[in-house]
Amino acid sequence: MDKLLILDLGGAQSYMLAHRVRGENVYCEIVPYDTPAREITARGPKGLIIVGGTQDSENDCSQEVYDLGLPILCFGGGARSAVRHFGGILGGTVIEDTPAHIDFSPSPVFEELTECDRFIDRCVEWSLPEGFTSVAVTKGDISCGFACEDKKLYGMQFYPEQHDPDGLKILSNFACGICGCEREWNIEAFIEQKVSEIREKVGERTAMMAISGGVDSTVCAALVNKALGHGLHCLFIDTGLMRKNEAGMIRMIFGEQQGIKLSMVEAQDRFLAALNGISDPEEKRAAINREFEKIYEEEAERLGQVDFLVEGTIYSDLIEGSKEPVNTHTDAEGRIGNVHHLEVLEPLRELFKSDVREAGLLLGIPEDMVYRQPFPGPGLAIRCKGEVTAEKLAILREADAIFREEVEIAGLGRKIGQYFAMLIDMDATGIRDGERVTGSTIALRAVNSTEAMKATAARLPYDLLEKCVTRITQEVPGVLRVMYDVTGKPPATIEWE
Ligand code: XMP
Repeated sequence: MDKLLILDLGGAQSYMLAHRVRGENVYCEIVPYDTPAREITARGPKGLIIVGGTQDSENDCSQEVYDLGLPILCFGGGARSAVRHFGGILGGTVIEDTPAHIDFSPSPVFEELTECDRFIDRCVEWSLPEGFTSVAVTKGDISCGFACEDKKLYGMQFYPEQHDPDGLKILSNFACGICGCEREWNIEAFIEQKVSEIREKVGERTAMMAISGGVDSTVCAALVNKALGHGLHCLFIDTGLMRKNEAGMIRMIFGEQQGIKLSMVEAQDRFLAALNGISDPEEKRAAINREFEKIYEEEAERLGQVDFLVEGTIYSDLIEGSKEPVNTHTDAEGRIGNVHHLEVLEPLRELFKSDVREAGLLLGIPEDMVYRQPFPGPGLAIRCKGEVTAEKLAILREADAIFREEVEIAGLGRKIGQYFAMLIDMDATGIRDGERVTGSTIALRAVNSTEAMKATAARLPYDLLEKCVTRITQEVPGVLRVMYDVTGKPPATIEWE
């Protein structure tokens, strides 16, 4: 399949840009800016996009990369680093965070673009290297775009993927016009291609996959099941740390609807025992991880001959994984380590979350499942502050079910990224039958977030909050106080542990 590679100089732009290129039905991948030229050639792209953040760094692509003879489109810091690389001079910032009208000179990248305001994050004065011509000008005479037709190198100091009415045209002009990519990328084609790749690779051998009930592992299992049928063996471990009714739903979707070969492992007692006496969140995660791994080992042994391990890794995991880790997340999505040194299959590696959801719908997974909110691998254990006990889990599970039900009844279920309850380790003082008593405190959290890196607290209607407080304090024995957390991320994380 024709593809572009995005060389990332740092900054947050590459991810969104890759999304937009795929939105134009052209496949692309993000690689670090210092990926060696031979590796780039091995990946076979028809063109490159160099992207930097608003703030420039010293990062630059090597001369070998510029010498590959591939068309190159550069944005923001990427355009400025290309100018510097070829001997141009960069001056001070002249425009920052402003919409501006841009006049374009004729150039293949700007074909069919209308004249309108576009958003400029940052534009510096530059004096262009020999062979480069200015092809975009703003605010009278400030150059914000260059072309070097000999090298098929183009650069602009504005980003076309956001706040821009027809900026995507620049991407498709480059990808399809200049690089000659066919518009071959779509999820249906992706599924077909993966199905035949998996069949070819696995053949008559067998694969095992741990599923969590999360979107990624569910879609991944459905895809591999389409390829292998009973050659895939799925494992669902009921840790006792799931939300209310979750285990039953998983049994129904996997076993009955998708016809996937599924073993349920009832391990509630094992996980409670493993968590006994542990209050520290990272120790809880580690204890849960260890228990998962032990069970996977036992199951792999029990199943006998297994050749492949399927994991539900998606593209954002890889990108986030390459950035600074925020905590040692236990994985919700069935990435289970090096069990028995099996060969690993990760068929969703190239997909963004929205692609995964689209694939899920095409594979016949019910909408409720496909649009499920994220749920952490360690489950309710990290929503139960302090030591985890069966009693605390029972309280939390009920309070969480009420909160989720009320948000859904209010029609906000799909509008809020993540909403859940926590049981916090603070005794609540209250009055019952005229007596002062102590009981439990529940905290509610609802946040909006696209990729969970940042989040804002959802402005839930006050009536809804009041209804939740009333129901939780009346229906869940022992709960005397309910709070709502309105802190964003940053500074707070989404989960409390
Ligand atoms: P934080 O709390 O770090 O969460 O803002 C970001 C996203 O990650 C989820 N999360 C986890 N997911 N294992 C997971 O699989 C974990 O240990 C874990 N901790 C947090 C959290 O629900 C949010 O979506």
